[in-house]
Amino acid sequence: MLVVKTIEELKDVVFRVKSNGKSVGLVPTMGALHDGHLSLMKRAKQENEVVVCSIFVNPVQFNNPEDLEKYPRDVEGDLKKIEPYVDVAFTPTAKEVFPEPPKEVYDFGQLDKVMEGAFRPGHFNGVGIIVKRLFDWTTPDKAYFGEKDFQQLAIIKRLVKDYGIKTQVVPCPIVREASGLAMSSRNQRLSVEDRMKAANIYRILTESLRLKDAPIQEIKDFVISEINKIDGFKLDYYEIVDDTTLQPVEFADLSTGIIGCIAVYVGEVRLIDNIRYK
Ligand code: PAJ
Repeated sequence: MLVVKTIEELKDVVFRVKSNGKSVGLVPTMGALHDGHLSLMKRAKQENEVVVCSIFVNPVQFNNPEDLEKYPRDVEGDLKKIEPYVDVAFTPTAKEVFPEPPKEVYDFGQLDKVMEGAFRPGHFNGVGIIVKRLFDWTTPDKAYFGEKDFQQLAIIKRLVKDYGIKTQVVPCPIVREASGLAMSSRNQRLSVEDRMKAANIYRILTESLRLKDAPIQEIKDFVISEINKIDGFKLDYYEIVDDTTLQPVEFADLSTGIIGCIAVYVGEVRLIDNIRYK
């Protein structure tokens, strides 16, 4: 595995690989890697001749300075984990990626007006900035994103469409711990007790599946009231949305795909998860 730290080196390797007619798969990450991330890399390895993985805690997508500061970092450990699946690891510094403060402004229509976009102002513009730059530098044939960040996935698909980018966005299923808790780098920040408690998020979401034919408001009320019963949980939102427009669904019949998305603080740590109803 080649580890590159500069954009020039990254572009050079990709140029050589592509000149040899080889396909490139990209897996963008912020490090503190777990089996969820590795599932993306395994898939990328199956489907591409060369896999590029970026590890970069992107400062411009953090709306909360404390979250950025406390974000777990372990690049050395990460490089060991990805070695079997990745050919090129890109681990730039913030100065390398942003020699100047970035000025790009993206328009994602209504997609970033709800849920994460509403609760984390500027977050998706920051995601757009880094992902667009990574796409420009690596021109991947395929890029892999987890359904855990369902709204992010929708936003990247829109970015690719709006800019005519010739990369196929590959959605990958959520990988969970044995308890059902969706794997997340932020789980490392949970105490042992809170980590056990956090499993209630997926338990409640799965329980709500038995209401999937009930009126949407009933499903919402069920999830919200069950979450609020758990001591130490603070709900940011629970929304049941159309899986393409991400706008709240009132009547299930009007959408072909429906997803419930949640963001909840477990103590100080903010976690997100989602479940498909239709
Ligand atoms: P990060 O949170 O490190 O996640 C990197 C990728 O791994 C994302 O596509 C995310 O959806 C996926 N992922 C995380 N946990 C997962 C799980 N439990 N199951 C399946 N996939 C999972 O998302 C980001 O970084 C950043 O916003 C990034 C796209 C890298 C831009 O900075």
